Amino acid sequence: MSISQEIESKINIVELAGRYLQMKKAGVNYKALCPFHSEKTPSFTISPVKNLAYCFACHHGGGPIRFLMEIEKIEFSEALHILAKEAGVELKTDYYKERWEKTGDIYDMHRIATDFYHEEIKREENTEKLNYLLNRGITLETIDRFKLGYSGNPRELFARLKEKGFTEQNIIDSGIFVGPGRDKFYGRIIFPIANFAGHTVAFTGRITGQGEPKYLNSPVSDIFNKSAILYGFHLAKSTIAKEQSVIIVEGQMDTVALHQAGITNTVGISGTALTKEHIGLIKRFTKKLYLCLDWDKAWVEATFKSLENLYNEDLDIYIISLPEAKDPDEFIKSWGNFREEMKKALSPVAFYIKEGAKKYNITEMTGKKAIWEELKKMLKHIRNPIEIDAYIREIGKILNLSTDILYSELKNFREKRVIEDVKKKDGFERAELIAGYIRLYSYFDLFLEKFQYTLSDGMSIPSFFVIKNLLSARESGKEDENIDIDRLSAIELFIEEENTTLSQDIITGKFLELVGYLNKLCFEQEKKKLLENIDPNSTEYMVERHKLQEKAKKIGVKFN
Ligand code: CTP
Ligand code: MN
Repeated sequence: MSISQEIESKINIVELAGRYLQMKKAGVNYKALCPFHSEKTPSFTISPVKNLAYCFACHHGGGPIRFLMEIEKIEFSEALHILAKEAGVELKTDYYKERWEKTGDIYDMHRIATDFYHEEIKREENTEKLNYLLNRGITLETIDRFKLGYSGNPRELFARLKEKGFTEQNIIDSGIFVGPGRDKFYGRIIFPIANFAGHTVAFTGRITGQGEPKYLNSPVSDIFNKSAILYGFHLAKSTIAKEQSVIIVEGQMDTVALHQAGITNTVGISGTALTKEHIGLIKRFTKKLYLCLDWDKAWVEATFKSLENLYNEDLDIYIISLPEAKDPDEFIKSWGNFREEMKKALSPVAFYIKEGAKKYNITEMTGKKAIWEELKKMLKHIRNPIEIDAYIREIGKILNLSTDILYSELKNFREKRVIEDVKKKDGFERAELIAGYIRLYSYFDLFLEKFQYTLSDGMSIPSFFVIKNLLSARESGKEDENIDIDRLSAIELFIEEENTTLSQDIITGKFLELVGYLNKLCFEQEKKKLLENIDPNSTEYMVERHKLQEKAKKIGVKFN
């Protein structure tokens, strides 16, 4: 048993969750309104048997550690420490203790550095640097709130950290220095980047004059995962929850400027598109998201790129385009009213059409066709029928086309993409669901019997590795470290709930249907590979096609 498993086994999830939730008994489990999204009927399930607290609607929660992390918005190691104490488990010199000590030091060094830089910017000899910020319209109050700073001395911070007792190696590992103790950010305005608990995990430094790079960032580290951090999140999260919306901008200055203008539900991405990790974090708080990315050449592409990650996330997305202004910071400084622009924000479809309309003449048939081709590419990412319906209606209205035609066009387009379009069931991939059935009902042999392809054939299917790992774990007789047991347990719980009233025969039937779907995917893949390079008018093509037809019959998939 791992240390975290040992701790979890000593924590009663019902008692733990009960501290935060109003629970009602429902059979062997308990139900509550989900603390991670707003809902009217309880879908948050607490299972004493599985020691799990999980929401089937938004897929948050898990075992005691995960539940505590998410509800308290803390990091893994912190949750582990809290629960270890409660469980009376001592974290000795194990991995977690070491990790905690290691990252604990890095956190401490970043906190000390943050304070150091912040003091520096207020020192008399650095007035000019403070003026840089003031001249850009940033107030002292904002400087304090975001703990902005300045690095005015190349070696002093290193000395201070040594004084505090950190080893040279530790200090060098912090990523704040280059060479033997020279401050990497020397001469730059400092923006501390905090995690959502408000602890500084990295810095970004802006040059005050001309020069490259304009912004210099800390390297990725044990505590800094660039694609999961949203700048200003710790200061924005309460407003995000209260207003039930978030505004995403690009960069530090824009985040700071909007906060100062009273729009405190703003967070910043820096130098990356919006990632799935960002979205996961945001979704714990709200489902309404405004994108306001930099207005430049790459803007439209960057917006599209971020949008791609946003589909199927059950989010309401709006795109703000600022008139005649490069970015929100400049817009606000030129006395623009940002809230007015928010009201004019466009849906992704309207945004695509508006941008496309600059390239094509959408009052003409050729222009309509061209833009529809692009919209189809966007729509193919979307799985939720309600979302699709809303978009199709919108497109029909703007382009003045019949929605019937658009639907059938889209259907044709999608059917060509069976493989890509692996459907999800309630947020779980089919393959994961199958893994859940296998583990829950011991369908190992049944799976091997009914799945018509090899395990390596299956690996092209999203999440198939979960099945593969599960099977090889059984083979070797030990739990596989690559399996996310928390998630798998959640899936099992989901299956149990869904199947409580069903007979075993029907449950097996459901399982076989799922396996049939995998067969279909693999078959489509095989078919594509075989026929792709053969001339459709040749005899060889006919022969291969016939063989495939026979195979389809044998393994029970539809051939078309
Ligand atoms: N960025 C970066 N490294 C660079 C340039 C930019 O990491 N060399 C990131 C920064 O987070 C920056 C964002 O990309 O805030 C947007 O860049 P840009 O539009 O050039 O900067 P602004 O946010 O407008 O900053 P400023 O107003 O200070 O020029
Ligand atoms: Mn700017």
